[in-house]
Amino acid sequence: CGIVGYIGQNDTKEILLNGLEKLEYRGYDSAGIAVLNDEGMNIFKVKGRIAALQDRVDASTHATMGIGHTRWATHGVPNVENAHPHQSTSGRFTVVHNGVIENYQDLKKSHLQDANFVSETDTEVIVQLMEKIFGELEDTAEAFRQTVSLLKGSYALGLIDREDQDKIYVAKNKSPLLIGLGEGFNVIASDAMATLKVTDQYLEIHDKEVVLVNRNFVEIQKLDGTAVTRKPFTAQIDVSDTEKGTYPHFMLKEIDEQPFVMRRIIKEYQDENNELKLDGDIRAAMQACDRVYIIACGTSYHAGLVGKHFIEKIANIPVEVHVASEFSYNMPLLSEKPLFVFISQSGETADSRSVLVRIKEKGYPALTITNVPGSTLSREANYTLNLYAGPEIAVASTKAYTAQIAVLAILAVDSARAKGLSLDFDPMQELAIAANAMEILTDQKDTIEELAKNYLATTRNAFFIGRSSDYYVCLEGSLKLKEISYIQAEGFAGGELKHGTIALIEEGTPVIALATQEEVNYAIRSNVQEVVSRGANAMVVSMRGLEQDDDAFVLPHVHELLTPLASVVPLQLLAYYAALHRDCDVDKPRNLAKSVTVE
Ligand code: G6P
Repeated sequence: CGIVGYIGQNDTKEILLNGLEKLEYRGYDSAGIAVLNDEGMNIFKVKGRIAALQDRVDASTHATMGIGHTRWATHGVPNVENAHPHQSTSGRFTVVHNGVIENYQDLKKSHLQDANFVSETDTEVIVQLMEKIFGELEDTAEAFRQTVSLLKGSYALGLIDREDQDKIYVAKNKSPLLIGLGEGFNVIASDAMATLKVTDQYLEIHDKEVVLVNRNFVEIQKLDGTAVTRKPFTAQIDVSDTEKGTYPHFMLKEIDEQPFVMRRIIKEYQDENNELKLDGDIRAAMQACDRVYIIACGTSYHAGLVGKHFIEKIANIPVEVHVASEFSYNMPLLSEKPLFVFISQSGETADSRSVLVRIKEKGYPALTITNVPGSTLSREANYTLNLYAGPEIAVASTKAYTAQIAVLAILAVDSARAKGLSLDFDPMQELAIAANAMEILTDQKDTIEELAKNYLATTRNAFFIGRSSDYYVCLEGSLKLKEISYIQAEGFAGGELKHGTIALIEEGTPVIALATQEEVNYAIRSNVQEVVSRGANAMVVSMRGLEQDDDAFVLPHVHELLTPLASVVPLQLLAYYAALHRDCDVDKPRNLAKSVTVE
């Protein structure tokens, strides 16, 4: 979910709606705003997107303060009752909240037996508690601190007292939240992107802090009321990076940006002599460890699998890759000197953060590879490597994935060099070649659109097969297709399909095979024959030099280790055009959110 708030001199509706639009990547099943003026609290809520909320908001309501929310449902189905903002029974307090209040059932029993709940959400306990405690204390700020002290779980929240047009009460624990500073106004936002149009000056809020946000000042406090001082920072995001310009979808724009992201990474990780440059502390941490544990979710997990391949093959360091949500509650036996590497586009994923918190308790070092250097995972790890991909807005990740792979290759090469291993692989040169290949590939949209139409326009399922690192790309290719086109798709190790799943192959079932690895070219071709013999409609994507006559698509040549950077591009575009031809919402697929800040 995403939250935004404004308190200032201007009308707040547009600022809130604009901010929510920018936060839609965090969830978009329902949305709402609350604005306070002399007439009282005005609440507008809808099931659905911000566009629907825009139509719902009464244009004549003028107010200079308010809060807004866009939701990704956890507790309670997406409907108007469960949409935020939520109000206390008397209507005195109104709240928007991102996160999960884990003890909401307990709080209902212990403090709120008599309260009248109208939604199924965990959030509603916050305002009801506020009302109850305020009834005893008659002091909003103190009641707010006491309310927040009772909450367990994750929250970023903004609360308004109907009787006070001068303050927004804010609190944070685990979920991201920033305060934006302006002249005569201040804002709150889950992500600076939401309010960049009004300010680039932001204050970080730490866990278990509360903030009183006024038009002219911001007061950060600990839960016991002690004041905290903190310097603002300048958000380094270009507003134009957050717009899609002439592109029909952010996803297409971000696919096209990949060659430029590669070149930016080359530049950022090179010194003036064109030599690879990496933070010496990170190099030392890689040298000191006896095993790397990569922790990630979704697409970042798939990049982690490619990263394992690099770090083991290039740097000769053993690597395990784990899905964060599993690792957190079912930790394997660890080696003596582990180094944890968190891969996360957003740097906010709650599942990954939960692992980070646990391994920090044990005193293990952590490196975060992220697109958002100031994010929670970046701040809390010992070291950070930046992806330099620029804001990624489409829910389906593309440029962050390839940036993660490039940075992992650089990390592997740096570690190998530090160990004195001799390499016949110049990463910067090979990445530059991969960037050129990506550019050639993004220029072949028409061809790939045709393939998408022929193979995927009407199918209900599809399989992706590959061996070695092609297999990892198949996992990512199938995830892309599932998430945006809703075609049931599965990525398989080429040799494994025959051990069960081949039963699903029917006349015409699309099977997309990657053949970029010389060592397994013969073997994957056999697997293709196995499915073709059973009626599959096979599409082979091969690497120049390994191609055969019937191949549907041939990739420009890139170094064998870096083939994922090239092979993923047609798979991203296949998913894009399949979704387009099936009338799916490419940038905001159903049920998903880009940044999942709940476990
Ligand atoms: C969500 C998104 C995925 C993403 C995953 C991990 O589930 O829908 O696209 O890969 O989170 O996100 P992260 O920001 O940690 O890379």
